[in-house]
Amino acid sequence: MCGIVAAVGSDNVLPILLEGLKRLEYRGYDSAGVALIEAPGRLGRAREVGKVAALERLLASAPLTGLAGVAHTRWATHGQPSQDNAHPHVSGRVAVVHNGIIENHLVLKNELVAEGYAFTSETDTEVVAHLIERELQRRGDLLAAVEAAVARLEGAYALGVIDADRPDRVIGARHGSPLVVGIGEEGYYLGSDPLALLPVTDRFLYLEDGDLVEATRTGCVVHGWCGNGKRTPVVREPMRYEHDDPSVGKGEFEHYMLKEIYEQPVAVANALEGRLGSDQVLIEAFGPRARQLLGETRQIHLVACGTSYHAGLVARYWIEELAGIPCQVEVASEYRYRDVVAPPGTLLMTLSQSGETADTLAALRHARARQGQAYVGALSICNVPGSSLVRESDLSLMTHAGPEIGVASTKAFTTQLTALMLVTLGLRQLHGGDGELTARLVHRLRYLPTLLGDALKLDAEIARIAQRFSGYRHTLFLGRGAQMPIAQEGALKLKEISYIHAEAYAAGELKHGPLALIDASMPVVALAPMDGLLDKLKSNLQEVRARGGRLLVFADPESGLEAADGMTVVNVPACCRFLAPLVYTLPLQLLAYHVAVARSTDVDQPRNLAKSVTVE
Ligand code: F6R
Repeated sequence: MCGIVAAVGSDNVLPILLEGLKRLEYRGYDSAGVALIEAPGRLGRAREVGKVAALERLLASAPLTGLAGVAHTRWATHGQPSQDNAHPHVSGRVAVVHNGIIENHLVLKNELVAEGYAFTSETDTEVVAHLIERELQRRGDLLAAVEAAVARLEGAYALGVIDADRPDRVIGARHGSPLVVGIGEEGYYLGSDPLALLPVTDRFLYLEDGDLVEATRTGCVVHGWCGNGKRTPVVREPMRYEHDDPSVGKGEFEHYMLKEIYEQPVAVANALEGRLGSDQVLIEAFGPRARQLLGETRQIHLVACGTSYHAGLVARYWIEELAGIPCQVEVASEYRYRDVVAPPGTLLMTLSQSGETADTLAALRHARARQGQAYVGALSICNVPGSSLVRESDLSLMTHAGPEIGVASTKAFTTQLTALMLVTLGLRQLHGGDGELTARLVHRLRYLPTLLGDALKLDAEIARIAQRFSGYRHTLFLGRGAQMPIAQEGALKLKEISYIHAEAYAAGELKHGPLALIDASMPVVALAPMDGLLDKLKSNLQEVRARGGRLLVFADPESGLEAADGMTVVNVPACCRFLAPLVYTLPLQLLAYHVAVARSTDVDQPRNLAKSVTVE
């Protein structure tokens, strides 16, 4: 989605805005723009199609300076990537950047056109600029104008606004899209993500939905809802950003994605830290309400999107087998619009790396609004402290993966799985599961980071295989049981960064249709850990071979599967079947990565995608 930065300071804020945009590029990267108040009454604006580097080149030839400004990196929703559609949008003295979607923009546009406003873009955002300009004419004050304008908006927005006549301040507004205020030595800043502002501060106010903020060089006032339908100045406690700054670089790695793949042993160790006892998980370490919530749980609705959804699908196998609790898993974009039936005792679990995914948040709100009584509560598993999902859940288990910059999720996924295994074992403990298996799994979890480190040693072998693989146009991924979602995740990774069409099937489904696709040009990737389904899987692989399909099998060393004509076998470190989904994920991530590199795609920022999907 789009990224916003705004700044008001004692020096030219352009470098801060540009650095912020680069750090937000993961949110969208089809065009970028900046507007500064160059002198009282004079706005300067630059917009360019493409990445922030293109905007930087433009500004190098025609620099802008100013003490207050707004900036934006775009992921197109309304109108194709073009200079006209790039933000900031300007109306009279007002410049606006926006992240989100204004659902009633057509109604507002008709109203504004009738009043004589001329539109120069196809975006939904331009109505916001004209609305604020109209209200500024009427009210004479930017904060009042923004307040009146946002009252007309339906949808989701985070806004940054400047008025050319007031070079001493910027206004922000948040409703449904993330926005933080950075408190700096030399000024105040707004950003879609603290990451954007780490070069100038590590102190942040996290705005809440409905908040407006007026920032000057020396301070800011947040105006929030006070219960009687009016806004009043409110206190939002400053919080320190506790993580290392991930944007310091890729280190020895060519891409953030590869760096993040390699960080997984440490990330998973962090996710486990402080949560394992000698032979049990420490439920109290999940948070104050954990014992009560998990104890009262009779069934689980697990809701997420994309890669996080795949983590949920794996967890269903664990939760039902290890804790004996019924679990249904659904993509948030469906759950949010369904007449969900939640029997009493339902725990709503949401999974999200960012904690800002619009559909996942909406699913949480939908569940609360529809069947508030039936749910014992909402538990989120999330990587971003202070995110909307965390704030709105009754209990949050942080994954501690550290910031993930590559658009394709890697360490966020394996740390989600780790957290889900911890929750599963917590449920098992509270619901009478036998302690011996719990203790064995706790011991194996301690060893998991080492196992993941061993799986990374396959990197060079997979890189060689990827060279051959990169010439294919389609791929099929097969798995059974808890490896089925891992096959789905492997297919998603491959398609999103290499643009090779990839599909995943439960191996048992092959003969019900997809077998028709198999020939020598259709490679099939299969996952073969040691589990009760190995023999069944082997039969499925025979079906593929008999039809001339090319197999790439990631297998347990004891599986008995050996390389043969048309079949490549990669031995994955031996592991217990419950943890195998985590271990087998890594070779699939490496495969997708090396295929993408061989095809020279933009690995960290694949086309058409954005890291944090804060619009529907
Ligand atoms: C794929 C990927 C996406 C996200 C999805 C949900 O690599 O990253 O599919 O998993 O957009 O995002 P979060 O987890 O932030 O809710």
